[in-house]
Amino acid sequence: MASQTLGFVGCGNMGGAVLNGILAAAFTKTSTEPKPISGFIVCTKTAGSAARIKSSIAAEHQDLIEVVSGQNVQTMRDADIVVLGCKPFMAEEVLGERGVREALSGKLVISMLAGQSCENLTRIIKDAPGDTHAPQAKDPAVMKVIPNMGAQFGESMTIIETPSDAVSQSMAETAEWIFNQIGKVKFLAPEQTGLATVLVGATLATLTLPIEGLLDGCVAEGFKRADAMEMVLQGIRGLSALLESGAHPAVVRESISSPRGCTIQTLLSLEKAGTRSDFAEAMIRGNKHLKENM
Ligand SMILES: NC(=O)c1ccc[n+]([C@@H]2O[C@H](COP(=O)([O-])OP(=O)(O)OC[C@H]3O[C@@H](n4cnc5c(N)ncnc54)[C@H](OP(=O)(O)O)[C@@H]3O)[C@@H](O)[C@H]2O)c1
Repeated sequence: MASQTLGFVGCGNMGGAVLNGILAAAFTKTSTEPKPISGFIVCTKTAGSAARIKSSIAAEHQDLIEVVSGQNVQTMRDADIVVLGCKPFMAEEVLGERGVREALSGKLVISMLAGQSCENLTRIIKDAPGDTHAPQAKDPAVMKVIPNMGAQFGESMTIIETPSDAVSQSMAETAEWIFNQIGKVKFLAPEQTGLATVLVGATLATLTLPIEGLLDGCVAEGFKRADAMEMVLQGIRGLSALLESGAHPAVVRESISSPRGCTIQTLLSLEKAGTRSDFAEAMIRGNKHLKENM
């Protein structure tokens, strides 16, 4: 298996979670299986962020990683595979720089940029002003991959858009290996990745609201917040196991609602508030926003 250097252009919350997740999963002292990646180059915009990343890397991994700032094109040249971890609106600025086309010639480019299509990113790279000293550039092979912050604990639900013909099978396998290190991977057709991006993000973000509501209610009724949180977390693990076993959510609700019991009272209260359709509406609104801003 050829060993390659994985470069991150932009490495904030998401890039950092992916980087740390890969290091924790595949680069421990005991991991002996062959890997397609042998080292990392990380490039941020500011020196302060680079220093923060450097200091967060465990001693056992320091030799595997070079951290720089303000050197996007050089990072693209030095890396064999490039992960784009800057904000989506920065695509033109980052990929339109002189020399990018040659630096990414024939390379696998993994975009984590929500809402940016592979076609648009490929166009920006091909339109970047040329580096007159470099040989003729080949097209890059751009893949779209959307992980989430669960990555740092090996629990990402990563959406990988079905690769285009520009991506070789070995490139696709390498991308799959990378993201398998940090959780589960699901391949979806391009027309489904937008909604999947909204769903995965919303699962993490919107479910924090009912969790906080449950905690607030328990604090109002006399629990310490930390005690309530401990019980809620184990409850979520139990719910997750039930749903993963194939139980329908409605069956779970009904099976724990006893006649004249307290659970049915909590459910009726939320149904009266229209909570379920509020969540559906939130998904529709998030997806509309993504489509309008693609
Ligand atoms: N956060 C999530 O849950 C999530 C989930 C799925 C996908 N994503 C995608 O991941 C990407 C990054 O999101 P994030 O939340 O990690 O953002 P973030 O924390 O703001 O990180 C952005 C990174 O980009 C760097 N950067 C800024 N300007 C740059 C430039 N001109 N050239 C190169 N790097 C530059 C920043 O460096 P400095 O710190 O030095 O400015 C920082 O390292 C986005 O495209 C987003 O759509 C995020």
